[in-house]
Amino acid sequence: YTSDAYPHVKRDPNFGELTADDVSFFKELLGSQSAVVDGVTADATDDLEPFNSDWMRKYRGHTRLVLKPQNTEEVSKVLKYCNGRKLAVVPQGGNTGLVGGSVPVFDEIVINTSRMNKIHSFDEASGVLVADAGVILEVADQYLAERNHLFPLDLGAKGSCHIGGNVSTNAGGLRLLRYGSLHGSVLGLEAVLPDGTIVDSLSTLRKNNTGYDLKQLFIGSEGTIGLVTAISIQCPPRPKAVNVAYFGVESYEQLQRAFLEAKGQLSEILSAFELMDGRSQSLVRESTGNKHPLEGEYPFYCLVETSGSNAEHDMEKLESFLEHVMSEGIVADGVLAQDETQFQSLWRWREGITESLSHLGGTYKYDVSIPLPELYQLVEDCKQRLTEKGFVGDDDSFPVRAVVGYGHMGDSNLHLNVSVRQYNKDVEKAIEPWVYEWIQKRQGSISAEHGLGIAKREYIGYSQNETMVNLMKQLKTLYDPNGIMNPYKYI
Ligand code: FAD
Ligand code: MLT
Ligand code: ZN
Repeated sequence: YTSDAYPHVKRDPNFGELTADDVSFFKELLGSQSAVVDGVTADATDDLEPFNSDWMRKYRGHTRLVLKPQNTEEVSKVLKYCNGRKLAVVPQGGNTGLVGGSVPVFDEIVINTSRMNKIHSFDEASGVLVADAGVILEVADQYLAERNHLFPLDLGAKGSCHIGGNVSTNAGGLRLLRYGSLHGSVLGLEAVLPDGTIVDSLSTLRKNNTGYDLKQLFIGSEGTIGLVTAISIQCPPRPKAVNVAYFGVESYEQLQRAFLEAKGQLSEILSAFELMDGRSQSLVRESTGNKHPLEGEYPFYCLVETSGSNAEHDMEKLESFLEHVMSEGIVADGVLAQDETQFQSLWRWREGITESLSHLGGTYKYDVSIPLPELYQLVEDCKQRLTEKGFVGDDDSFPVRAVVGYGHMGDSNLHLNVSVRQYNKDVEKAIEPWVYEWIQKRQGSISAEHGLGIAKREYIGYSQNETMVNLMKQLKTLYDPNGIMNPYKYI
């Protein structure tokens, strides 16, 4: 059979079909009560639904079996059995991924990490945390907060996503500008290969130059070569003072100036510089009903956060930055959070965009790296293109509701989102591959942080040359000769 979202993708006939005997094996191994959700020998169609559909409700798989192993040895036995039977699998964490990578395409078995949720150790002197893949990001950060440390990644899905999922997608998030990529902060990991081999590379060393750094292959490979079961990660001390300011800006040129000023004046305490366009903020206002922090309306807004160790010193710096950018006319208006409640509410105007969009219907999401001078031009060009094609207008008969841009300006990472009443193939065809060609011409990346999954399976060539793609295929064959790990996705 073929996939609903991708009619030209066919189920690989080399993969085994799940039988009642297979299910008995897994029930025996993991225990039937909470470890196995089974639609083969039991009637569990509704129970399987959350594991089959993604956060955006854009992709739907047809798994009949979800497994929830509790430890690495169980994962090893599960994968060894699947490999022997050529049963395809999908590793799944919090299922918050935005490229359809965490759900099956056909009947692949879901291996969900939610029961692997123990924190193993934390060393205050080095700041190294060792924890299972299924620990929820917010839980890990809360644990660290109690020990005056911070998880070096934060993102809107923190209440649901798993740290193993974060590592497998190499998630970027809201403070990459300050704390860097997981390729730098992850010190080690443990993973299981499809043949059941346990890769124990759970080093806690900051420095370790002994040959190839193989753990890096698992970071961002989206479950295609093995299942990550635990990670060790370098965590910085929790900053004692965190401040946030929110600005209205008249043009994209001024916004670039504001960013340069922020880098120059706030330098070592700058921890986030986020961009939100006017439309994204009106969407948040409509969906939350919250009063906007500024009086006037502006085409652009930015959120600037500082994190440091001396509240007075940081506030002084931020206030003089604010005074400078306002008096120079770089920003038109601005507000500084005065307490924790205001701090949270200002951040909601940025973090809440993804959810606000999800209330409108479908969203075509493009998560791209583009050199800063042209970053926002993509949104303008896309809006113009969709308008010329007759997809954008003021009433309900037009399929596109909004074309919005926001993102991690400090990392040159734009999120272009096209919100539609319903997913619509004509709109999709008007955007893709046009958008990828646009990015390629500027030597950008078609995925800055969300990954490729199934959404971009056809498009890797716009950001990687043939040699790189061939090397990836060779590595895939080496690690997963039967191709059972997360098939039909980008590799
Ligand atoms: P899942 O969605 O379950 O899986 C994602 C991929 O990783 C899949 O391919 C899956 O097969 C694989 N995978 C999961 N666990 C494992 C494992 N243990 N071993 C091997 N493979 C595995 N992303 C950003 O980069 N920055 C953001 O700012 C950001 N903000 C977001 C905000 C919202 C509201 C939402 C819904 C998503 C956001 N994302 C963001 C997307 C992001 O990719 C995820 O939130 C997160 O990193 C995925 O973690 P997860 O546990 O949900 O993984
Ligand atoms: C974000 O930065 O808000 C996330 O990457 C999610 C999104 O792109 O909507
Ligand atoms: Zn993002």
